[in-house]
Amino acid sequence: MGFFDSLRHNKNEESTVNKDKGKKSSKREEKRAKREQEELNKEQAKETEHTQEVDEAQQTSQVITDKQNKKSSQPVSDTPKIPVPSIEYDKITDDVLEDEADIKHPRSYAQKKPITHAIGQTKIIAIINQKGGVGKSTTAVNLSAALGARNKSVLLVDLDPQGNATSGLGIDKGEIETDVYDLLLGNADPEDVIIPDIYEGLDLIPATINLADAEVVLVNEMARENRLKDAIGTLRGKYDYIFIDCPPSLGLLTVNALVASDSLLIPIQCEFYALEGVTKLLGSMNRVKKRINSSLTIFGVLLTMYDSRTTLSHQVADEVRKFFKQTVFKTVIPRTVKLSEAPSYGQPINVYDPNGKGCQAYDALAKEVIARG
Ligand SMILES: Nc1ncnc2c1ncn2[C@@H]1O[C@H](COP(=O)(O)OP(=O)(O)OP(=O)(O)O)[C@@H](O)[C@H]1O
Ligand SMILES: [Mg+2]
Repeated sequence: MGFFDSLRHNKNEESTVNKDKGKKSSKREEKRAKREQEELNKEQAKETEHTQEVDEAQQTSQVITDKQNKKSSQPVSDTPKIPVPSIEYDKITDDVLEDEADIKHPRSYAQKKPITHAIGQTKIIAIINQKGGVGKSTTAVNLSAALGARNKSVLLVDLDPQGNATSGLGIDKGEIETDVYDLLLGNADPEDVIIPDIYEGLDLIPATINLADAEVVLVNEMARENRLKDAIGTLRGKYDYIFIDCPPSLGLLTVNALVASDSLLIPIQCEFYALEGVTKLLGSMNRVKKRINSSLTIFGVLLTMYDSRTTLSHQVADEVRKFFKQTVFKTVIPRTVKLSEAPSYGQPINVYDPNGKGCQAYDALAKEVIARG
């Protein structure tokens, strides 16, 4: 086979191949057309399905709207009521007004009632224990009120930023314009700060949270330990007793109380660690005694929150009496719910529960205090 023959042969072969190819490609086209048709059919089916769904949804919403229309067209009284708690507005207003009436609004010293009994030599007594929650403020409020009721003239100085003695006597701290802080800083005279006649025979120098700054502000001031002494010293002769309710710390405020006082009343709670920290307190007392206030003494030690049913209370009382001997008051203050409730009513116990055990105890203590001179 010559060159051209082989070429022809190849051509023939080529044409056979091409023929085959043509057959194959037409088959492929057929297949593609078929596939396209199938896809078209599927899409049409989907579209029909979607239209049906939309129709169904529209029908359903129509049903709901119909129902709603039906409902709204029903009379209001047929609709089920939602239970709403009924509020008795009148009652609330009355209660609020009653509470308002309990709040004691600060008055000026100029409005103070004249004293009708002879005022003895003023005793300035700090109610002190750096331990928290031992009954300092409870004693400050209730002993002061008991002495006031016994015809004594008493000033209570709240020296604790917590202001528990102030609120315990029903004073609204939000209404106080000048407090013991202004007195310590020399920004006010005692007469500007004293709230007179809160209860029978009882005046108050109040404290607010402002006092919390005192420790920081006074640090750089001259004679910072003497501030309280200088301020209340001018009141000697105007009261029988001046009590200072101290904060639960041995900081600058407590040192001011130690310097300003003639003596200390130390409440000790009848609990497990009763005497914990007492040595530290006596250490502070001795340091102040040596340097600034040589006549400082212990006026008395008071057992508080005494529960006669527990052996622990008896044991603590024995231990404290062994340690402090004669300085411990015979009167013990029992643990009673009424004593813990009274401050929330802004009343001393002789007003809140005049016939209860707590009132009797603080009155017995007042008698002992008077007897100690
Ligand atoms: N005899 C008592 N019986 C029952 N509860 C009492 C009694 N004495 C004080 N309490 C309650 O114990 C808590 C502490 O009392 P109180 O505030 O007088 O102590 P405190 O030593 O002044 O405290 P702080 O160190 O925080 O100033 C208060 O809730 C008070 O009502
Ligand atoms: Mg207190």
